[in-house]
Amino acid sequence: MEFIKQLKEKASQNKKRIVLPEGLEERTLKAADTILGEGFAEVILIGNPDKVKAEASTYQLEHIDQALIVDPESHDRMDAYADMMVEIRKKKGLTKDEALTLIKNPLFLAVMMIKAGDADGEVAGADNATGDVLRPAFQYVKTAPGISVVSGAFIMILKDKEFGEDGMMVFADCAVHPNPTAEELAEIAVATGRTTQAIAGFEPKIAMLSFSTKGSAKHEMVDKVAKATELAKQLAPDLKIEGELQSDAAIIPAIGQKKAPGSDIAGQANVLVFPTLETGNIAYKLVQRMAHAEAIGPVLQGMAAPINDLSRGCSVSDIVNLVAITANQAAGIV
Ligand code: ACO
Repeated sequence: MEFIKQLKEKASQNKKRIVLPEGLEERTLKAADTILGEGFAEVILIGNPDKVKAEASTYQLEHIDQALIVDPESHDRMDAYADMMVEIRKKKGLTKDEALTLIKNPLFLAVMMIKAGDADGEVAGADNATGDVLRPAFQYVKTAPGISVVSGAFIMILKDKEFGEDGMMVFADCAVHPNPTAEELAEIAVATGRTTQAIAGFEPKIAMLSFSTKGSAKHEMVDKVAKATELAKQLAPDLKIEGELQSDAAIIPAIGQKKAPGSDIAGQANVLVFPTLETGNIAYKLVQRMAHAEAIGPVLQGMAAPINDLSRGCSVSDIVNLVAITANQAAGIV
């Protein structure tokens, strides 16, 4: 896929250290081998080194010896990371003993490596649920300055090239925050615009979706999206944002012009911001399955460092692709 090829080329120019905490998981190991073979990122695997090497030889992987393998049960930074955890969570009453137990969990170790500057980004989730991947990140890496909410965007590559930017669109939030307020939805819109510019590589035309177009229906859920649209415009005057729009008014030019006359986004939208996680998650999966679109992500946005979560049904190439995206985020291309 051309899009991913370009991301890998960009990542190769400034190689970043991506930590994969599920170092004994088969698809993760195979992905690590591919990444190291292609050479677009450095890989840190978390797992018992003997077991990792034994698994790698079972799958006849050739490049795993280039990875840094960190044993979660025994490494020389354990005490320092535990001290950092206690400091970060002192208001929550975390004790050193509790921290020393948590740091043996690869998902906590991975985020502490990032926090300490020993890794640049993380990809996990082939073996762990979303909440288990995200919670350590929320607690220790936290959100980027000026951002209060993390959300997840999907880059959708559609077979039908008439939609979006030659068939490419960005959908959010499809992965993280169940029921955002208007203020949070505004932040999600701005973050999605920035992800679009940096990762998808085109100028976003953002539609704030609802079941109403420009006041055609009256409801508090419509008011939320209208308010979020205004707030998002104030937060990022440089971004093109329109709302509230129904999905047909967002992507079909004739309907956009009829329902929102004069708008240069209605009917032309290439970024869809959904009012809730329910709508975003359902929509991306329907488009993926029924329109046979590729769904790349979720790309987590708003975190202070790039940490991305896989679906447990992911393939080896899904992991490789998400590492390419994460490496680009880590290189500050986001
Ligand atoms: N952005 C930033 N910080 C957050 C967010 C967020 N969206 N959500 C929670 N946090 C923070 C909290 O402030 C809290 O911080 P603190 O401990 O320093 O006070 C910490 O994270 C834990 O918060 P909780 O409310 O305890 O978080 P909880 O674990 O209940 O929920 C979670 C967080 C797991 C992300 C939850 O919102 C969730 O389950 N979301 C849905 C995820 C999901 O299942 N997605 C669909 C599948 S993914 C897919 O299909 C691609």
